[in-house]
Amino acid sequence: MEKQEIEAYVKAGEIAKEIKNFARDMIKPGIKLIDVAESIDGKIFELGGEPAFPVNLSLNEVAAHYTPAPRDEKAAEGILKIDIGVAVDGYIADTAFSIDLTDDGEFKGMMELNEKILQNVTDKIHAGMEVCEVGDSVQESLENWNKNNNSKFSVIKSLSGHSLGQDSIHDGLTISNHKNENKTILDNLAFAVEPFVTTGVGDIYEGQPGGIYVLQSNAPVRDRDAREVLQFIKEAFVTRPFCLRWLVKELSDELSEGKLRFVLSVLVKQGIIYEYPMLIEKSKKPVSQFENTFVVNDGKVICTTK
Ligand code: CO
Repeated sequence: MEKQEIEAYVKAGEIAKEIKNFARDMIKPGIKLIDVAESIDGKIFELGGEPAFPVNLSLNEVAAHYTPAPRDEKAAEGILKIDIGVAVDGYIADTAFSIDLTDDGEFKGMMELNEKILQNVTDKIHAGMEVCEVGDSVQESLENWNKNNNSKFSVIKSLSGHSLGQDSIHDGLTISNHKNENKTILDNLAFAVEPFVTTGVGDIYEGQPGGIYVLQSNAPVRDRDAREVLQFIKEAFVTRPFCLRWLVKELSDELSEGKLRFVLSVLVKQGIIYEYPMLIEKSKKPVSQFENTFVVNDGKVICTTK
């Protein structure tokens, strides 16, 4: 990896760490998710980064892929996952944490386990390590915890960590959170490790759309407004996921929020953009998430987000 590439990864990580502290201070029970999202968006730019994807603010049994739209009424309650992506020159820090918003600390144990799983992996990561060692570590931490605490937590098997590339959030390599046979060597690359813990069965299904979009096809569009919006998306976000909040912020002088909502729905229907479904725990049980980004290069490991 080039020196400037590593420096960009490190800077993105520094910003992401600040955003985590900023979010932790701001998020209290009852705060509107849209206010959290807009504050985080603004703070990322203020610190000299760009959002690599819309911040995921997923509540309770929703594991991932929810971001609030303007006038969203959802408020922080139960357990909230905050999954943040920061890009500097396209190099990404991807990091997540969870907040327990209950009065009685209902999710304390689940979050403690989840943090411990990620910490144990973080301690083990070294250049030349095989991808499957991550899954081994996660599974071992989980099993030890369940044995020692007589608990039945699961790690969600179908949600995995991933390699990162310039302007690429999932760069081809999947880093599973369970035992596997992937002997790929972790070296000269950036990647995220993100175990999700739940009291449920440990699987997910795809639910309703969650407000996160990505450009999917280059097919022509006839409607003039839709063409204009699409042109903006291609220039501003390219391959990056985006959300209605950002379109409203940039285009509201030309098109109303209602019109932008309509245009998005048309583009989704035509298959030109894709709207990610929410990922929901199969038994509708609460989920926690913690995530770090690592850069492994020349025999050295940097955890950019811790
Ligand atoms: Co990630």
